[in-house]
Amino acid sequence: RLLIIDFGSQVTQLIARRLRELNVYCEIHPYQNVTDAFLAEFAPKAVIFSGGPDSVVRDGSPRPPTSVFDSGVPILGICYGQQVMMQELGGKVEGGKISGGGGTAEFGRAYVTPTSEKIGLLDGWFAGDDDREQVWMSHGDHVSQLAPGFEVYGTSPNAPYAITADTARNFYAVQFHPEVHHTPNGAKLYENFVRTAGFDGDWTMGAYREEAIRKIREQVGDKRVICGLSGGVDSSVAAVLIHEAIGDQLTCVFVDHGLLRQNEADEVVSMFRDNYNIPLIHADESELFLGELEGQSDPETKRKIIGKLFIDVFQKHANDIEGAEFLAQGTLYPDVIESVSFSGGPSVTIKSHHNVGGLPEKMGLKLVEPLRELFKDEVRALGRELGLPNSFIGRHPFPGPGLAIRCPGEITREKLKILRKADAVYIDQIRKHGLYDDIWQAFVAILPVRTVGVMGDGRTYDYACALRAVTSVDGMTADYYPFSHEFLGETATRIINEVPGINRVTYDVTSKPPGTIEWE
Ligand code: XMP
Repeated sequence: RLLIIDFGSQVTQLIARRLRELNVYCEIHPYQNVTDAFLAEFAPKAVIFSGGPDSVVRDGSPRPPTSVFDSGVPILGICYGQQVMMQELGGKVEGGKISGGGGTAEFGRAYVTPTSEKIGLLDGWFAGDDDREQVWMSHGDHVSQLAPGFEVYGTSPNAPYAITADTARNFYAVQFHPEVHHTPNGAKLYENFVRTAGFDGDWTMGAYREEAIRKIREQVGDKRVICGLSGGVDSSVAAVLIHEAIGDQLTCVFVDHGLLRQNEADEVVSMFRDNYNIPLIHADESELFLGELEGQSDPETKRKIIGKLFIDVFQKHANDIEGAEFLAQGTLYPDVIESVSFSGGPSVTIKSHHNVGGLPEKMGLKLVEPLRELFKDEVRALGRELGLPNSFIGRHPFPGPGLAIRCPGEITREKLKILRKADAVYIDQIRKHGLYDDIWQAFVAILPVRTVGVMGDGRTYDYACALRAVTSVDGMTADYYPFSHEFLGETATRIINEVPGINRVTYDVTSKPPGTIEWE
């Protein structure tokens, strides 16, 4: 296994992700924990030093234990990792913002060109016509003198020591970040490094599952765990994984707020109870939620009512589970980065997001977050590994407040019933045309307006609805899906024929921004 020593970079997890893509098992440990004893016990086959926000020229800044350099394993240093490696091995590092010294603070895109003969780390690099590679730089300090034994193999205008190595000891150090998307050929560097270190790339999601199970057992011991199930992919995968680890020490609580899609509650309950035998409390609280929402039409008010009730209800049911000490959450890595980089930032609240962020403290529970290191597509892969059905794993995202935010204006049982039906027909159409997996999210919103129509020989006065379908990578930006007119026409006809209460269908062609994906 490979050890990543984390010096606090925002993108350390991306290194782990690149390695998982190469089927190499790695663990990230914060530098404070990596002592000589830890290293001896861990016995890594290779080590990567991450980047970090500190400056190696500052007294007391983070260091790796010196024994790492004597252990004989290959080491790759990234950015701060490069600088700390040089400093520790006898080179020099200077603080940023020094002009004219052949190196200054640098943030963003840069181009690296080769300086001498190529080494194994650079296989597949500098192969293009212009003999250069785009890389992403983000550093204040820079190396000003190499440590003994090192040579330069790549340079950029602002980073004369962009790629350096002591090939005799298998020490490699780069100033840029090969793990980010903006270093397009960066994965190749990691691949070359792990091959040099003797990894075959035979690690799989199956092995991840085993490791995750081991960690859950170690953390939880014989205590009880509560897991809030939403029916979404993340909480479901977390629940199945935890159940595999600790069996009936896990109890799931599924809060049914009455704002779910057609048959959704039944499907969730039967999947978990019948297929997986997971103890599940189905908290059917639709009367309570719909009662409190009666007469409310302001989007933020609706969201806040649902958010608060959700927490109350969850807490009420969780309190019945005796001796619970842990709360399981399907937190993913992107949630972790967002909360680190944006918390307390000056951003404006567009929508009060539904989450259970404050719950663990409120209930005095510790968190179990077995998906914290994974990205969405990796969670899906893990779900498949755990035997969850493909149709379930590939489901579009569904928001916590459910159909409430697809029903602008006042929510009534009648409108919800119409909306559920129309949504089911629309999704059926999308599946029948083989488009479901090309679309990131699709749903119907029922509009707070009635319009006049004519059906048969009679006049109708029914609701209008809007179809929404978007493409997106992460939900932060989105584009409307370019359905054919034929598809739209056919779908409108089906909805009007099959769903009493709707007599007009529109298609929402707004991108995000300026629109949002949901209507509220
Ligand atoms: P918007 O409408 O903000 O939605 O463009 C972006 C993505 O987030 C989902 N969404 C939510 N998810 N709780 C959630 O768990 C919420 O309160 C919430 N609001 C929006 C939305 O479905 C889309 O995928």
